[in-house]
Amino acid sequence: MKRITIAEAGSHVGETVEIPGWLYNLRRSGKILFPILRDGTGIMQCVAVKNQLDAETFQTLRHLTQESSLVMRGRIRAEKRAPGGYEMDVEGAEIVQRVPEDDPYPITPKEHGIEFLMDRRHLWLRSRRQHAILRVRHEVVRAVRDYLDSHGFTLVDTPIFTPAACEGTTTLFPVNYFDDETLYLTQSGQLYNEATAMAFGKVYCFGPTFRAERSKTRRHLTEFWMVEPEMAYATLEDVKQVAEGLIVAVVERVLENRRRELETLERDVSKLERVKAPFPRITYDEAVELLKSKGSDIQWGEDFGGPDETILGESFDRPVMVDRYPKKVKAFYFQPAPDRDDVVLGVDIIAPEGYGEIVGGGQRIHDLELLRKRLEEYNLPEDAFDWYIDLRKYGTVPHAGFGMGIERFVAWMCGLEHVRETIAFPRMLYRTRP
Ligand code: 4AD
Ligand code: MG
Repeated sequence: MKRITIAEAGSHVGETVEIPGWLYNLRRSGKILFPILRDGTGIMQCVAVKNQLDAETFQTLRHLTQESSLVMRGRIRAEKRAPGGYEMDVEGAEIVQRVPEDDPYPITPKEHGIEFLMDRRHLWLRSRRQHAILRVRHEVVRAVRDYLDSHGFTLVDTPIFTPAACEGTTTLFPVNYFDDETLYLTQSGQLYNEATAMAFGKVYCFGPTFRAERSKTRRHLTEFWMVEPEMAYATLEDVKQVAEGLIVAVVERVLENRRRELETLERDVSKLERVKAPFPRITYDEAVELLKSKGSDIQWGEDFGGPDETILGESFDRPVMVDRYPKKVKAFYFQPAPDRDDVVLGVDIIAPEGYGEIVGGGQRIHDLELLRKRLEEYNLPEDAFDWYIDLRKYGTVPHAGFGMGIERFVAWMCGLEHVRETIAFPRMLYRTRP
């Protein structure tokens, strides 16, 4: 007997095959049963008719419980009205495990609260919506890699145990290493990227990053994935161009390959179809004026809060690039603007529709003396940065790069209110299980 997946059903019309999977749902209608089978590649309605099956099989299917595992056997038939386009006329079924009636699968088709579902995240992933979101995430990750791989970037991953802060000392997670040495979970691979960029020219790292942020917002995780490209002989302008090209390419790929998932999520794709180059570009100064005119009480010199990002994002129909931030709100490594002492060559990209900052980056300090001065100003220990300082001693060049948060990007693609559903097992201030 030929074993196939639901995704392959289209090339087996008229054949009798078997599909291993799980019972997603079951409808009964007198002498006909409609078991809905899912197998990870899709969902398929099956039709089991009483007088075409042996009595035992029919009875077994009739009383089968949700999420029981089984191998369904039958003939594939094209059915225009069916969600995936095909149905199976059941000829037999082998039950692998029957979920007990007295301890049924906890997630039923009725509505459940978010905490109930998050506590059962290990099971919730089987639901149609969650499945669709994580498939979009996979497409985003693949598209990011394909784009950078085909634009001359070399993947050089960076360490997770790190001796120093990249993005400010207040959001570090300390780890007790051997012999009471304290290390920190990485906040960003950037500093190491700067070293590998001097070896390879254009590089990227792509991995989990950590922030001990006590912010309980819809945009913050304590563990999130970030892709970080870094380029030697590059400026702020290069960052804008690469980030814009990357974002446009990834959105295109999601629209091309994940239409069905976006449909399941009821995403308004016309909003994503508008994401084309060129993106609007404004300065921080202009952003502050815009925010004030829309009722924000932000003052020059302050960082944007979540609501400010929402206003900015909603002011444009595609991602907006905001550059030249006040030095005080940015990390130690930013190159100052050549014409002004109080702003730095950093850029943030803010997604439309209120999904917030999806990219942060800019040009780095390449001058040895200036870097030393900044480390001192920011009270960072020179000894933890000795190797980083070396990069300014041996063939230093202007260089630049950025980081893009995958979860926020996926939340935007999927149109989700909160980033917690964009990663299989989210880590947040009050959520560390399962
Ligand atoms: O703006 P951030 O902090 O920039 C950096 O870490 C730079 N070192 C990156 C670089 O230049 N190589 O973070 C970059 C992006 C943000 O724009 C956001 O998308 C995401 O990472 N991000 C978070 N996503 C989820 N939860 C959090 N707590 C996040 N913090 C940042
Ligand atoms: Mg940022």
